[in-house]
Amino acid sequence: MPTAVAAAGVGTAARAGVEVRLENLRRRYGGVTALDGLNLTMAPGELVALLGPSGCGKTTALRLVAGLEQADSGRVVVAGEDVTGQPTNKRDVGMVFQAYSLFPHMTAWQNVAFGLQMRKVDTARRRKRAGDMLELVGLSGFANRFAHQLSGGQQQRVALARALAIEPKVLLLDEPLSALDAKVRARLRGSPRSS
Ligand SMILES: Nc1ncnc2c1ncn2[C@@H]1O[C@H](COP(=O)(O)OP(=O)(O)OP(=O)(O)O)[C@@H](O)[C@H]1O
Ligand SMILES: [Mg+2]
Repeated sequence: MPTAVAAAGVGTAARAGVEVRLENLRRRYGGVTALDGLNLTMAPGELVALLGPSGCGKTTALRLVAGLEQADSGRVVVAGEDVTGQPTNKRDVGMVFQAYSLFPHMTAWQNVAFGLQMRKVDTARRRKRAGDMLELVGLSGFANRFAHQLSGGQQQRVALARALAIEPKVLLLDEPLSALDAKVRARLRGSPRSS
């Protein structure tokens, strides 16, 4: 059965980034082998898509890079530094989860501003940046809504704004546009066909 994760380079980000190296990553859940020795090197600024059938280990690979779980063996190296044993909050990584995972007790604006607050960004800059990010995803008018007052696609856009707000060295997107209609999706991708 073709269950291996494949990677495809899909372009280069405008901003300079850092090299991310996955070395022989293995992760088993009980009897299930989610990753069986994944090797992948991503160049600074490179955009890479992980491809493969449902259950082949794409989300697991992202969670290992984010530090949300630990590999059974192998290493994650970011900008030349072995971060394999480091907790998530010590890694400069932003992530949009497949299931959005907004903080339910916070408004859209508070969700987007949260990471900036953790990084001790001052109030004025936080306000500006969170506002800019909500505008980018087309949700300026929804800043005071809680997650349960937003549609699935709107929640997904807030999650995207939240991940972009902190300008992380590494940005992990787990199917971040899956709940969006074609028009919004094209606009957020920055596609030349977008209006
Ligand atoms: N916490 C867990 N406990 C047990 N098995 C798990 C756990 N998380 C993932 N798995 C299993 O590991 C395998 C890889 O899961 P993963 O979520 O990485 O797949 P995926 O490639 O992201 O799939 P999809 O395209 O459906 O999102 C699957 O077989 C899944 O059932
Ligand atoms: Mg997945």
